[in-house]
Amino acid sequence: MYIDVRNLKKTYTKHTGFLNTKSFTVNALDDVSFSVKKGKCLAIVGESGSGKSTLAKTIMKLLNPDSGEINFMKQNIVNLSSDETKVFRKKIQMIFQDPFSSLNPKFTIRQILSEPMEIHMMGDKDEIERHVIEHIKLVGLSEQDLSRFPHQFSGGQRQRICIARALIINPEVIVCDEPVSALDVSIQAQILELLKKLQKKFQLTYLFITHDLRVVKYIADEVIVLQNGKLVEKGTVSKLFNNPSTDYTKALIEAIPGSI
Ligand SMILES: Nc1ncnc2c1ncn2[C@@H]1O[C@H](COP(=O)(O)OP(=O)(O)OP(=O)(O)O)[C@@H](O)[C@H]1O
Ligand SMILES: [Mg+2]
Repeated sequence: MYIDVRNLKKTYTKHTGFLNTKSFTVNALDDVSFSVKKGKCLAIVGESGSGKSTLAKTIMKLLNPDSGEINFMKQNIVNLSSDETKVFRKKIQMIFQDPFSSLNPKFTIRQILSEPMEIHMMGDKDEIERHVIEHIKLVGLSEQDLSRFPHQFSGGQRQRICIARALIINPEVIVCDEPVSALDVSIQAQILELLKKLQKKFQLTYLFITHDLRVVKYIADEVIVLQNGKLVEKGTVSKLFNNPSTDYTKALIEAIPGSI
């Protein structure tokens, strides 16, 4: 299996009360296990606070789990050395919900797109420029856009820039955390279409966090549902819609506005 997550647990300690003297434990991930095949899209669904972003961050190695394994091509990435971590970080990239805060406002688009290649030492100046031009076009923008700044673009265009930045180092896996939910509905479809096209072109594996089951239907092959840190459902998208196994999933399906 390409990505194989086993018995993942993550707790947070939260402080409340007068001068934060009281504390309690939140089970953000409570014994979560699932797997993803190469080139497929796994949707991660669940209400606010169910543990979706915590799962994404542990897979990205931005957070350490308390216990469990995250196997990526049979290698458990939880306890990698710093050299191994560098190699791993080139293979996985993330796209966030808010394309406004994830782009440095002082950088031109050329600088924003060059940076990941510079960090990973992936070529000389000419090579980087060639990649930058190729990738801005890949996401439907133009070479002229490279000398502009983030504030000169719309939300959808900024998300295109974030997608180009994620793809520029040729990753194998993209973790998308609600990548379209901050965008106008009319723009959402265009960005989803772009993500789907790019997935096919580069045989990318997606972990796609969304609270919108219409998005799941459009882009995902398989789906897991989280509730209070527990995995309450996993299977194909058609199984989720045709034969949901929990009331929680049924409620999520019923919450979809309009017909799908
Ligand atoms: N840094 C933190 N410190 C303490 N508790 C946290 C922290 N981050 C998340 N939590 C808690 O862990 C649980 C899971 O949070 P998480 O952000 O993973 O949920 P989510 O499914 O991504 O929610 P949303 O849909 O709102 O983004 C929640 O109860 C949250 O309050
Ligand atoms: Mg979240």
